[in-house]
Amino acid sequence: PVQAVIFDLDGVITDTAEYHYEAWKVLAEELSIPFTREFNEELKGISRMESLEKILVLGGKAHGFTEEQKNALADKKNEHYLTLIQNITPADVLPGINEFIAEIEAQGLKIGLASASKNAIAVLESLGLKDKFHVIVDAKTVHRGKPDPEIFLKAARLLEVEPGACIGVEDAAAGVEAIKGAGMFAVAIGAKELFAHADLVYESTDELSLEAILPLVR
Ligand code: G6P
Ligand code: MG
Repeated sequence: PVQAVIFDLDGVITDTAEYHYEAWKVLAEELSIPFTREFNEELKGISRMESLEKILVLGGKAHGFTEEQKNALADKKNEHYLTLIQNITPADVLPGINEFIAEIEAQGLKIGLASASKNAIAVLESLGLKDKFHVIVDAKTVHRGKPDPEIFLKAARLLEVEPGACIGVEDAAAGVEAIKGAGMFAVAIGAKELFAHADLVYESTDELSLEAILPLVR
């Protein structure tokens, strides 16, 4: 039986995926690199430095910068991102998430976070949700980023739950791949065509229903 639900943060619990997009877009345009929403899908769930590398490759500038310059560019993106998230409040929790969490708590299941963001704890605090999580695993505590399953496996281990007894919730293709690699049931949020490998896809967080998901898990 299912014993835990492990959430991604950005784009699942709150709409910070949109702020990451905006901050990368501004940086890319400063570098004269055209940046689209379609390309941005490839950055979801991917670490800050890996995202920058992908943008530089997109612009044909993969070799144009020293490590120091790349660090400065990544810092610049993060500074912009920090200004965008500074006004986050509990009102910014995405629709249906509080109800879904309440359902998970009512069933006595554990709740974990598996986020590739170094800003994850600050965002959860601004949302007033940090105390809901029994375990928080973020980019500061894992070696390999999504799509590697490490972050979800670590969350399950810290929750003391078998991966097969976990549901993972993600809005990123790399994240769904990580959940499946970990041997968990994958719920994706977004357009169906983006998530061929998910076990279940909801277009929006307000469709999340533990009652509907549980019978589908093995
Ligand atoms: C999340 C987002 C990515 C972001 C990454 C790193 O996974 O989906 O878009 O690049 O976190 O976030 P950070 O806040 O550490 O730059
Ligand atoms: Mg995400």
